[in-house]
Amino acid sequence: MEIAAANRVLRFTRTERAVHWVQASTFILLLLSGFGLSLPAIEGLIGHRDLLRQLHLTVAFFYAIGPTVLALGANRASVARDVRDVETWDGQDVRWLLPGSDTEPGRFNAGQKLNAIFVAWSTVAFTLTGFIMWQNRRFPLDVVSRANVIHTDLAYIALLVFLGHLFLATMWPHTRDSFWAMIGGTVRRDWARSHHPRWHPAGAINPPPAGREIALSAIRIALGWFIGLFAARWLFFAIGANTTDAVTRWLYDVTAWPGATLPTPQTGVHVMDWPGLIYLVLLIIVFRFANHPRRAGGW
Ligand code: HEM
Repeated sequence: MEIAAANRVLRFTRTERAVHWVQASTFILLLLSGFGLSLPAIEGLIGHRDLLRQLHLTVAFFYAIGPTVLALGANRASVARDVRDVETWDGQDVRWLLPGSDTEPGRFNAGQKLNAIFVAWSTVAFTLTGFIMWQNRRFPLDVVSRANVIHTDLAYIALLVFLGHLFLATMWPHTRDSFWAMIGGTVRRDWARSHHPRWHPAGAINPPPAGREIALSAIRIALGWFIGLFAARWLFFAIGANTTDAVTRWLYDVTAWPGATLPTPQTGVHVMDWPGLIYLVLLIIVFRFANHPRRAGGW
């Protein structure tokens, strides 16, 4: 049972923690493999450019849709509350950003809110520019080279933001307590009161979900993955994706369900993949059904 002791309060549910760690681990793998690809010294040291590229593109799938699939598949109410908290700004937040001002943050301070906004928008930007670079033969040359510049520059900015986040979460004495909230879910009540005075935690109890909820969440998460894979399959067929790389071939293989097994299209040949689209719509309908709000779990 995950019942916080009397002097502790619940800060993050299991779903919020899982979303955070999937985002963090995929980001770190992309950062390492991305810089491995771009810096000749590292690439030479590893010596397997193709393998590095395959790792980068495979992890990119998990990075682009993993957090959303987990959030929608498990306790989506707790993630929706995070989004609301991050999007809600008042005068205190603005003053928090000014040096020397005395403010009383709510559940998140303005720095944490800015970090979350950066992470969300940079994920969108990395995914879009990365997709253009991946399918470079489907886009005009100047669009591809601009995407390349944005992708690489953003990687340096994201590295700086990530190092700042890492320092505050693990080393800075005033904030490092919150690191443990991302592991166990709770923080000390007195710490919450002094660092986030305008946050009023509802309670400290986050009981484990019942067996039925665990099964339903597992089904929803699996369905969410296949929705993502079939959406990618449909898009790749439509644009006539480069079929020369192993990750695209893998995508076509795992989504080659009965009836959807079209012959592998050639690069540059646009195919309207009706069977893939029908699977996509069916999966979304089943997901909606399994995701009935009355059945929301206590993750
Ligand atoms: C969905 C997300 C992403 C996709 C689809 C993606 C895709 C790609 C592709 C196709 C390339 C070119 C590989 C090649 O040289 O053939 C690339 C390079 C690179 N990526 Fe990503 N990427 C993503 C996320 C990220 C993230 C999160 C980072 C860093 C934090 C990153 C850092 C880099 C770097 C540094 C390069 C090398 C750029 C260069 O050649 O100068 N990528 N990525």
